Amino acid sequence: MKPLEPKTFQIPELKGISAKTIEEHLKLYQGYVKNANLITDHLAKFGVEGDVHSYEIAELHRKFSFEYNGIKNHEYYFEQLEGGSLALAASSPLVQKVTEQWNSWEAMITHIKTIAATTRGIGWMILYYDRERKILMTTWVDEQHLGHLNSCQFIFGIDMWEHSYVADYLPSGKKQYVEDYLTNVNWSVAEKRYQECL
Ligand SMILES: [Fe+2]
Repeated sequence: MKPLEPKTFQIPELKGISAKTIEEHLKLYQGYVKNANLITDHLAKFGVEGDVHSYEIAELHRKFSFEYNGIKNHEYYFEQLEGGSLALAASSPLVQKVTEQWNSWEAMITHIKTIAATTRGIGWMILYYDRERKILMTTWVDEQHLGHLNSCQFIFGIDMWEHSYVADYLPSGKKQYVEDYLTNVNWSVAEKRYQECL
């Protein structure tokens, strides 16, 4: 299998979140790529000795979704910051869908702030689109992988691991981090993901 390669991101100066935090965060993202490749390499090596290495094979498979979703979650997260802060027009399909479900864009933002800022533990607030039911859904994903919703496309997410914000905010400042992250988002990125589902 062809090794995964880390992507690069053009992230502008952000409100509240320092360039140093982004730089360190990108190193963690690159670590997920490295580890996913490492697991793939080990599985290829053990593949011919399945009986002998059944324990290692099982545990490597168990870890793979943590590393792989760690890559994807972070790529979505950093892409959302590329191009700088941009709101959507009222006519945008995503705004219209959000308004249909939550009555207003502002109500949806309040909803995702609540999930992000009040759920304890390490993980992600994620807004998905379920292609089968044709609805937007929100959830909390523990770590990188526990709780992803099957058949759903990641539309927007916020990394709520402390490494995302603790150097710029106190641990108790995560609500402000969420406020600032939302201020920095280029919502056309989420709009594009949504439109690709239609
Ligand atoms: Fe992260």
